[in-house]
Amino acid sequence: MNGEFQALGGTDRSRVWFERAQESLAGGISSSSRLTSTGPHPYPLYMQSGSGTRIRDVDGNEYIDYLISYGSAVLGHASPLITQALTGVLSTGTMFGTCNVPEVELAEQIRQMVPCADLVRFANSGSEAVQGAVRAARGYTGRSRIVKFEGHYHGWSDTLAISNRPGESEAGPYDAPHSVPHSPGIPAGVVDDVVVCPWNDPAALRTVLDAHRGELAAVICEPIVANNACTMPGPGYLDLLREECTGRGIVLIFDEVCTGFRTGPAGAQGLFGVLPDLAVFSKALGGGLPIAAFAGRREVMEPLAEGRVKHGGTYNASPLCATAALVTLRALADPAVTKRIDEAGRRVMEAVRRAARDRGVPCTVQGVGAMFQVVFTPDGAPSRRYRDLVRADQARYDVFRHELLKRGVHSNAYGMACWFVSASVTEDELAATCAAVEGAFTAL
Ligand SMILES: Cc1ncc(COP(=O)(O)O)c(C=O)c1O
Repeated sequence: MNGEFQALGGTDRSRVWFERAQESLAGGISSSSRLTSTGPHPYPLYMQSGSGTRIRDVDGNEYIDYLISYGSAVLGHASPLITQALTGVLSTGTMFGTCNVPEVELAEQIRQMVPCADLVRFANSGSEAVQGAVRAARGYTGRSRIVKFEGHYHGWSDTLAISNRPGESEAGPYDAPHSVPHSPGIPAGVVDDVVVCPWNDPAALRTVLDAHRGELAAVICEPIVANNACTMPGPGYLDLLREECTGRGIVLIFDEVCTGFRTGPAGAQGLFGVLPDLAVFSKALGGGLPIAAFAGRREVMEPLAEGRVKHGGTYNASPLCATAALVTLRALADPAVTKRIDEAGRRVMEAVRRAARDRGVPCTVQGVGAMFQVVFTPDGAPSRRYRDLVRADQARYDVFRHELLKRGVHSNAYGMACWFVSASVTEDELAATCAAVEGAFTAL
């Protein structure tokens, strides 16, 4: 495939499926984030098949995919490596609810790749693994409060679904933000246990830590804030988090659900050279199968190992998912693979910068090659924290994203999220993506 092409033909079949879905699925969807998954469309697109970096919807439109299952299909859709490995598992049993060999090999593989991982536990989703890490931190310290950063996302469960995306009227003062539950149904006691802090502000961090001296079990962050349009950590900020947590006996948790095994074999902790006490993984870990993990320093994981701190799960590390993850991590352990992902993404980032510069459109392209976002900030400056993004031109992003969709490029509908690149993207697909970017900017 070369150059620009029109992919978004009719989408009537998606519309019909969505109408039908609303009769049986609450809201017609299986996850709140899917409702907006096609930007200006009043209905989501229904995807039918995928191969490599391509996906095809039920109307037969084909797209080059930069949602790539929210980063999970890191080796591409229907990766032959994974398909081949799973074919065997399908005929020998997908889960037994017992200990199994692939889970041991997978934990060993994670220990080899992730610097902070002395001990590992598996779960099925990022939200669950975050819950596991928070439980481990609370069990280890005997304290209950957690510091999280405004705008960072750590899953949908009550534990940390606080101030993910607070509205301006409810968010409170900049340097002492309110803890805003993300949804009705989250009990006040849970909200009280979460202290919210602005990201990338050393003074605000110290103030929050001082104010809650002796109460804090953990500080958790997304080291690259995938859910805030890939806001990067300021120079030295992750080191500061490390220093402050060490000095105060607080467990530092990196939520590497998006960065893990994607920004390099050792994830963000490898990229920035800062070791958390605990880290959480999912998405790229499973290569498209549902598996997650939390892992960390022996001392912090020891209460779990001894059985004093509890963690369970019927489906944890089934042979099916553990095998998919093992095959995926063995591929990603080769630094050439993550380097290639990074370089591919950087080409697209550069194409956006060039198109924006040529047309005098203020925008920033931030993140790393493997995960990045285009943000229409008023002055084109990179965001440092959530509140910078609130001022970005979301409507313009929606138009940009829709123009890309028309040209056969599929990306996350939500401007605060990001593009994910897969190892399967080809030179032709990159060229077509760059041409689509040019076309989209012309249409803006
Ligand atoms: C950084 C981060 N943490 C946790 C989660 C929750 O993962 P899951 O959706 O698998 O529960 C997500 C999901 O997008 C995420 O981006």
